Amino acid sequence: MKALTFHGKRDVRVDNVPDPSIQEPTDAIVRITSTAICGSDLHLYEVLGMFIEEGDILGHEPMGVVEEVGSEVKQIEAGDRVVIPFNISCGDCWMCNQQLFAQCETTQVREQEKGAALFGYTKLYGEVPGGQAEYLRVPQAHFGPIKVPDGPPDERFLFLSDVLPTAWQAVEYAAIPEGGSVAVYGLGPIGQMCARIARYKGAETVIGVDTVPERLEMARRHGIEAIDSSSVEDVPAAIREMTGGRGPDGVIDAVGMEAHGAPAAEFAQKATGLLPDSLAAKATEKFGTDRLSALIESIDTVRRGGTVSISGVYGGMLDPLPMMQLFDKGVQLRMGQAHVRRWTDEILPLLEDGDPLGVDDLTTHQLPLADAPHAYSMFQKKEDGAIKVVLKP
Ligand SMILES: NC(=O)c1ccc[n+]([C@@H]2O[C@H](COP(=O)([O-])OP(=O)(O)OC[C@H]3O[C@@H](n4cnc5c(N)ncnc54)[C@H](O)[C@@H]3O)[C@@H](O)[C@H]2O)c1
Ligand SMILES: [Zn+2]
Ligand SMILES: [Zn+2]
Repeated sequence: MKALTFHGKRDVRVDNVPDPSIQEPTDAIVRITSTAICGSDLHLYEVLGMFIEEGDILGHEPMGVVEEVGSEVKQIEAGDRVVIPFNISCGDCWMCNQQLFAQCETTQVREQEKGAALFGYTKLYGEVPGGQAEYLRVPQAHFGPIKVPDGPPDERFLFLSDVLPTAWQAVEYAAIPEGGSVAVYGLGPIGQMCARIARYKGAETVIGVDTVPERLEMARRHGIEAIDSSSVEDVPAAIREMTGGRGPDGVIDAVGMEAHGAPAAEFAQKATGLLPDSLAAKATEKFGTDRLSALIESIDTVRRGGTVSISGVYGGMLDPLPMMQLFDKGVQLRMGQAHVRRWTDEILPLLEDGDPLGVDDLTTHQLPLADAPHAYSMFQKKEDGAIKVVLKP
């Protein structure tokens, strides 16, 4: 089959690789019909290459049609239309029983001291072949895959794999009271959906921050007050002014480790990238620092006693944080990979009955899988208005 494989920093290719097959009775094989590129894939593309082997298949936002199931898979059968969550969870361990699916102890990658295995997401998360491919082997398929109805196009349901549950969790974690206020840093797909979900769930004031014109514009057409941070001197002060002088009840960081405006840390990330992989991996695991500007602004922005919800991915071990400000303001922090299946039963009905979250207005590009290398480059450089790119194997 054809699959998108990693070959090095900013070097991904569509290669011929062996077809996957059932290996465990809990596996399924899915023929992929749509598979999205995520901001998390951009971290692999740019700064986390030392944790990926050449030839590994990327991708963790796939959906398609079930081809074959193992003998213990009863909840889906050949021919079903399914979306595959990005984290691989068994549904029945101690963590899964608490709906902490991103911490599943059955698939946990203990040798790396990490949580549940993820599709297409480095050796740290199990080196499981990803979903930017014609076919995908889905482990723990007795639990993971989400059955979706026929009818609407793939793009209505595809984002159940990651973007929608991630944004839903970020909003839950932001603890916005009914009629309250929230600011969202980063208006990529995650930030866009955080803002819309917060509004849907009753936030009165929803403010988004980014610099990319078409991302600001997309937020505005969904009723979000969008701030272009390149034209505002002090963004936290501006947001405080918009929220009665106090700052919003919740702030969501939907940016993560490659935030703009952190030149020293960017230099450190680049310097690490010049080391041979094994040294770079050790250096990153022990001394890595992130580009923290979005997180630090989030902490500055939130009202005293409010909550900062971090959905952007961070990987540093020695990140300097403003502890005085965090402590003095009494800020609560919540974060982590999304527990996808914890939220999807609540979200699915919103996709079947009209489109109250506006999911149909997120995908900007649909391209054949063969064009994936161009799609990565375009998405990373934010060319041609790219906000969310979906590949069609
Ligand atoms: N927690 C999870 O389970 C989970 C799941 C999916 C994605 N993520 C993470 O969420 C983040 C966003 O993902 P995405 O797909 O929307 O990515 P994206 O790269 O499309 O979006 C990031 C946005 O942040 C903006 N930005 C950069 N620096 C900024 C700053 N200092 N202030 C304000 N905005 C800034 C960029 O212009 C861009 O629009 C990534 O870090 C991704 O890894 C986490
Ligand atoms: Zn993703
Ligand atoms: Zn489990």
